[in-house]
Amino acid sequence: MYKFDFLVIGSGLAGLSFALKAAKYGNVAVVTKNEIKEANTRYAQGGIAGVMNIDSDSFEKHVEDTLEAGAGLCDREAVEMMVRAAPELIKELIEYGVHFTESNGKLDLGREGGHSEHRIVHAADATGREVENVMVKKVREHPNIEVFEHHFAMELLTEHHLGKKVKYLNKIHCFGAYVLESETGKVHKMLAKTTILASGGAGQVYQYTTNPSIATGDGIAMAYRAKAKIKNMEFIQFHPTSLNIEEADSFLISEAMRGFGAILRNADGEAFMEQYDDRKELAPRDIVARAIDDQLKKRGDKSVFLDVTHLDADEVKAHFPNIYEKCLSFGLDITQKWIPVVPAAHYVCGGIETDYDGRTSIEQLFACGETACTGVHGANRLASNSLLEALFFADKAVKKAAELIADLEFNENVPEWDESGTLNNSEWVLISHNREELKRVMWDYVGIVRSDLRLERALRRQTFLYEEVEDFYSRTRVTVPLCELRNLISIAYLIILSAMKRKESCGLHYNVDYEEHARGFNP
Ligand code: FAD
Ligand code: SIN
Repeated sequence: MYKFDFLVIGSGLAGLSFALKAAKYGNVAVVTKNEIKEANTRYAQGGIAGVMNIDSDSFEKHVEDTLEAGAGLCDREAVEMMVRAAPELIKELIEYGVHFTESNGKLDLGREGGHSEHRIVHAADATGREVENVMVKKVREHPNIEVFEHHFAMELLTEHHLGKKVKYLNKIHCFGAYVLESETGKVHKMLAKTTILASGGAGQVYQYTTNPSIATGDGIAMAYRAKAKIKNMEFIQFHPTSLNIEEADSFLISEAMRGFGAILRNADGEAFMEQYDDRKELAPRDIVARAIDDQLKKRGDKSVFLDVTHLDADEVKAHFPNIYEKCLSFGLDITQKWIPVVPAAHYVCGGIETDYDGRTSIEQLFACGETACTGVHGANRLASNSLLEALFFADKAVKKAAELIADLEFNENVPEWDESGTLNNSEWVLISHNREELKRVMWDYVGIVRSDLRLERALRRQTFLYEEVEDFYSRTRVTVPLCELRNLISIAYLIILSAMKRKESCGLHYNVDYEEHARGFNP
């Protein structure tokens, strides 16, 4: 029998920073579906935004840049709190042992799209790897934290599992989760006084994504099934520049490169961004991604190109060693040749709705990091605000969850997982086929530029896949691929439905049938 004060689902920056701080107050389980270090966090390149140089920068400027990127839909209070906390949270990481790049004895500050100042703290171009490694080490060393690798959280435990009818907007409580141990196939009941969803994003719902394979939106789908409030799912961020070499699997080319002086060119060498926005390469991501999409469609090209050949070759290698080596492994020396790039799905701005303390609409259930919708991103996230958001709301959630545990009991009435009536099924090909089909539908119909017709078509396809997979699920023993597919189908539904409901174009949601409200460039 597993019982924890804090059950943390996910081992990216949000989950690990929550766990580390919560361990002061009680016992903590970190449940993670792969190896502990596997998370979007590990792949972060550009860095963490924060006002670290008050001579040239200010909190007001960081707040304004965030609000401007968010296209009017951010929660100003949430943004202000997060921005003001950033310098302390970054210092805390340094005290944990994270080494950020320095120049002349000071933190080296990068710049990315939508930022009016240099304010991105980074570890060369592999910030996430450095941060994740340090956090994993600290968590593993902590006596109050138990880590469960290769354990997949399947369902949140609520009154539904006590045989009660649970309705949306009723008072619902979370008592922990059913967790599938992937190596044995056994489903464990993990009881918890507080449960924290830190399960990251859902890039895998699209055919092309910068996200690793773990990003299947499990937390959002689980919370949705448990009837938590979900918000803003139409705002999917497409990163403008993923490497367009087939074997590279949409490897990210950091926006920091554009902050460093890289130029976007079409196949004829034309620097096209000035046609779309005065900020050119440093316009917010939604605008740059849409401009690239426009160039590709208008010209019928397969790629646009990022050009750093005019910059000092040694400096390019020193600032972007990871990207330089990766491209070289495909025979591309970026100091000599342009980099072929295309947009790819990158980040979910919406998610499980939370208050300023990370509380969801379900009692005893918290959410932080990419899986949450905290209000700070609005209709489009400002670059490098995501790791900051994970740190900030994990910190807030710990304080609130720690206050709760003294007055809470474990709910021992939740039954063990029941798999009677299910069979091992040999039709696994259905899973991989349906997953590929879903990803294609989402890419083709619910991508950077949308229309009512495409959304309706996507919903019809999604409904068909939903029915097929629910039927399969009810008859079959649970496995991770099956649960992930089911979750991806729910995520697709939430994105399509939210996109259909928004009768305007705004930030990342661009629908050609509602051009009049669009911010920035309209194709
Ligand atoms: P993640 O780091 O994704 O962690 C989620 C965890 O949950 C993983 O451990 C996963 O295995 C686990 N999990 C998921 N589902 C389950 C389940 N069912 N059961 C158990 N465990 C589960 N943001 C920035 O601010 N700056 C950057 O420079 C930057 N660069 C990026 C570059 C890339 C290539 C990518 C993909 C993203 C980048 N981002 C960046 C975004 C940022 O990395 C993520 O938004 C952030 O790391 C999310 O942290 P998280 O802890 O919420 O989720
Ligand atoms: C990047 O380095 O371009 C990614 C930054 C981010 O997603 O915030």
